[in-house]
Amino acid sequence: MPKNLINSLEWLSEPRIVCGLMTGTSLDGIDIAICSFSSAKDNHSFRLLAFNTFPFPSEIKNILKDIISRKRFIDDISLIHFALPKLFAQSIIQLCNDSSIKLTEIDAIGMHGQTVWHQPKQKEIANLRISSTSQLASGSALAKLIGIPVVYDFRAADIALGGEGAPLVPIFDYNFLKSKTENTICLNIGGISNITYLPKNCNTSDIIAFDTGPGNVWIDLIAKEFFNLDYDKNGNLARQGKVNSALLNKLKEISFVQWKPPKSTGRELFNKELLFRLINNITKFDAIATVTYFTAWSIAENIKSFLEPANRLIASGGGANNLFLMELLKKELPTINFAKSDDFGISSDAK
Ligand SMILES: Nc1ncnc2c1ncn2[C@@H]1O[C@H](COP(=O)(O)OP(=O)(O)OP(=O)(O)O)[C@@H](O)[C@H]1O
Ligand SMILES: [Mg+2]
Repeated sequence: MPKNLINSLEWLSEPRIVCGLMTGTSLDGIDIAICSFSSAKDNHSFRLLAFNTFPFPSEIKNILKDIISRKRFIDDISLIHFALPKLFAQSIIQLCNDSSIKLTEIDAIGMHGQTVWHQPKQKEIANLRISSTSQLASGSALAKLIGIPVVYDFRAADIALGGEGAPLVPIFDYNFLKSKTENTICLNIGGISNITYLPKNCNTSDIIAFDTGPGNVWIDLIAKEFFNLDYDKNGNLARQGKVNSALLNKLKEISFVQWKPPKSTGRELFNKELLFRLINNITKFDAIATVTYFTAWSIAENIKSFLEPANRLIASGGGANNLFLMELLKKELPTINFAKSDDFGISSDAK
C-alpha cells in the first residue's frame, strides 16, 4: 500500500512499524520508541521493538530554555526548527543501528515537536480571540532528511477547535489501560503532570483529561540551581529536607491547581522566575522537599476535586521514578491502588 494512504484506517489493517518521537517540557532529551502496531476492528495492539532517550546537546538545551523564556529571537528559533530534525534523524538512525531494525522497515514517524509556547487561553488580537501553541522541529525537513513519511503538528487542530492541544495521550490510555470494573486514573509525570481519567467500562465520550500542574519541572530547576544536578534521583535530596510551610502556602496560592478542567499548562506559568521569586531564606534541602511536596499535593488536589473516586492509579513518565514523590502522592491518596504502566506491559519511560 502506498505510504501516502497514511490517513486511511485501512493502513493499519496490516501491522505497521511506527517510530514515535517525543521531546517534552523537561527538556531532558529525545525519547524514541519504535513499535509494531496492529489493528483488527477496534482492537489495537502494539509491541515495543526499541526505545532510547538521546540527551539534548547542552548548546541546544540552553537555547531551547532561552527561547521558552523569551530571551532569544526569530533567527535562533529558525535555527532550532531545523537543528532538531537533524538531531532526530541522527538519533533514529542510531537507535536502528543499536537494535538491528532496518530504517527501511519503518512505515512512518510520529513527531510531537518541542513545545516552546502554549497559550490555550484565548488572547485578543484584531478583534479575534485566538488560542495558540507552538512546537519547533520541522516535520517536512525530517521527512526529507530520513526518507520516511512524518506525521506531525498534532496539537494545532485540537487548539483550533477550542481544545487544550493534547489529543493523543487520552486515546492511547483509553485503548490500552481502560478497565471494565475499575475507575482508572492514568497519571503521567513529565515536566508537567497530566491525567487521563477512565471511568469503569467507559467509552470515548467519558474520557476526562487535563494537566494538574507541575511534574518534574520545578524539582529539576532546584536540582540544577542549588545542587548542580539535572534532576533529584529517586527523590533522595528532597527526602533529606523538611517542608517549609511559608513557601508551601505561597505555592498553594497558584490558582492553576484550582482551575476546573479542561486545562493545560507549561513552562509559561511554571517557570524559574516565579519559583525563585517565592523561595526566600530556606535551605536547599528544604526548598526541594517543599517543591516535591507541592508537586504531589497539586496532583492529589486535582484528583480529589475533579474526579469521581478511583480504584487505581497507573503512573508513567520520568517522575514515576521519583520514589519520594510517589511516596508523598500515595500518602495524599490512601484509598487508591498505585501501579506503574510497566505493570501492564507498557514501559513508563517509553509510553
Ligand atoms: N530516577 C529518577 N528519579 C527522579 N526523577 C527522575 C528519575 N528519572 C527521571 N526523572 C525525572 O523525569 C524527567 C523526565 O521525564 P519525562 O521524559 O517523562 O518528561 P518530559 O520530557 O517532560 O515529557 P512529557 O512532557 O512528554 O511528559 C527528568 O527530567 C527527571 O526530572
Ligand atoms: Mg523527556
